[in-house]
Amino acid sequence: MATITKPASAPEIKQTQCFIGGEWVPAASGKTFETINPATEEVITTVAEGDAKDVDLAVKAAREAFDSGPWRKMDARDRGRLMHKLADLIEDDIDELARLETLDNGKPIREARHGDLPLVVDCLRYYAGWADKIHGQTIPVRGNYFCYTKREPVGVVGQIIPWNFPMLMAAWKWGPALAAGCTIVMKPAEQTPLTCLRMARLAQKAGIPDGVINVVPGYGPTAGASIVKHPGVDKVAFTGEYKTAQIIMKDASQTLKRLTFELGGKSPNIIFADSDLDAAAAGTHMGLYLNQGQCCCAGSRVFVEEKVHDKLIDKLAAMNKSRKVGDPFDPNTEQGAQVDKAQFDKIMSYVEAGKKAGAKCVTGGKRVGDKGYFIEPTLFDDVQDDMSIATDEIFGPVLSVLKFKDVDEVIQRGNNTFFGLAAAVWTSDVTKAHRLADELRAGTVWVNCYDVFDTAAPFGGFKMSGIGRELGEKGLEAYTENKTVTMSLG
Ligand code: NAI
Ligand code: MG
Repeated sequence: MATITKPASAPEIKQTQCFIGGEWVPAASGKTFETINPATEEVITTVAEGDAKDVDLAVKAAREAFDSGPWRKMDARDRGRLMHKLADLIEDDIDELARLETLDNGKPIREARHGDLPLVVDCLRYYAGWADKIHGQTIPVRGNYFCYTKREPVGVVGQIIPWNFPMLMAAWKWGPALAAGCTIVMKPAEQTPLTCLRMARLAQKAGIPDGVINVVPGYGPTAGASIVKHPGVDKVAFTGEYKTAQIIMKDASQTLKRLTFELGGKSPNIIFADSDLDAAAAGTHMGLYLNQGQCCCAGSRVFVEEKVHDKLIDKLAAMNKSRKVGDPFDPNTEQGAQVDKAQFDKIMSYVEAGKKAGAKCVTGGKRVGDKGYFIEPTLFDDVQDDMSIATDEIFGPVLSVLKFKDVDEVIQRGNNTFFGLAAAVWTSDVTKAHRLADELRAGTVWVNCYDVFDTAAPFGGFKMSGIGRELGEKGLEAYTENKTVTMSLG
């Protein structure tokens, strides 16, 4: 085993206040909340607890920056250049930012450093390239008229993000919003506010004008809901739980805000007997346990064709047993801590429910150590479709294996969920692969791979897994309004 080298120093905590109109300010109420290191359960620092008052100030700053600031009117290419600059500054600080992410979130340093952060930089650069490529059409209408369309920024956007990929979720939301010329009020998750605040500082350093990006840390029902209800916000982009999205939809109805949602899933991962079983097992392991199982697209319902079931279980169990769980700052660690006590308790209650319902716990099922929110990689076999571990998003390192016999059956069972975020198929039969890619009701279908993300490829959910798409050109559409101009030619 490689020698363990801990980072020389803990990341410095620099930004803990609200970032409004280019100023770092305490919450108007003076309140703060604690952010915890989930690997040690110790308090890292306290952060300004923004509320309705702070959101109002942030919306005013964003409104002013949109309505009369230089951002929207600036040459699009220059907007792109500032975004490139931000990406460069993040890249310069990549080690420090990865450490800060690991500290606040509990994810392994090697994933933060070599997974999340490079994707953050890539996302900002990709959308920087779009800034000067957003254009309309000329339309051949009847009569003596010249008709054209323009794509204009939607305005002030409220962006509410979760804690599972804190910086990456911020980048997915800032990228298209900035490229389109929108201004932003972001609320990071209360569990993980630190990297988003640091990013805001880097945006300021990059020269992105004051008021274009505002960050109000705080809780969902207070700061989050105030963003959703504020009449000065034109659009809300949200990533998180579908139940929260239901509240947001209601709250946004008063002002008929544009909404995009990227929600959860219970993604079917289907393994046929004719697949490369080693590759399928490795992809299945990564597709569920990545990020401690805290992925919206986790392949948490594994359907395996009966004749290769035993072999697959053996492979999955072996990988779980050798998986390195522990100190997220250890570069060899593959699985860190769950984000907080609430998530830890929720996951453990599903493990108990699975056992009680009669599923067979092949590996794991227990806490690791007695400090920090670590959970053993857990594998359930003999899972039935109606057990809660097969129907609910657990958001933890808990994989459920279900058996199937034929193609029609697995398509029907795979689709039998109100979610529709992702799906995967493992087979060497190209006809079968196409048939499943066609019939599975999900926003993303991976064939003989899992969790392959690219900034250029749209991502989002069918059914209750979301509304709209993020990433790619599709992701940009949500941040523009179409304007039709019709001019008489006399
Ligand atoms: P959540 O949906 O409550 O939180 C996500 C974000 O929404 C946070 O910034 C939160 O402060 C904010 N929020 C909460 N209530 C709000 C409200 N009424 N108005 C506006 N904003 C609000 O998710 P939570 O409670 O952190 O996790 C619960 C479960 O949600 C997880 O166990 C998992 O199943 C799912 N989840 C899914 C995610 C995904 O990527 N699709 C990410 C995070 C959680
Ligand atoms: Mg919640």
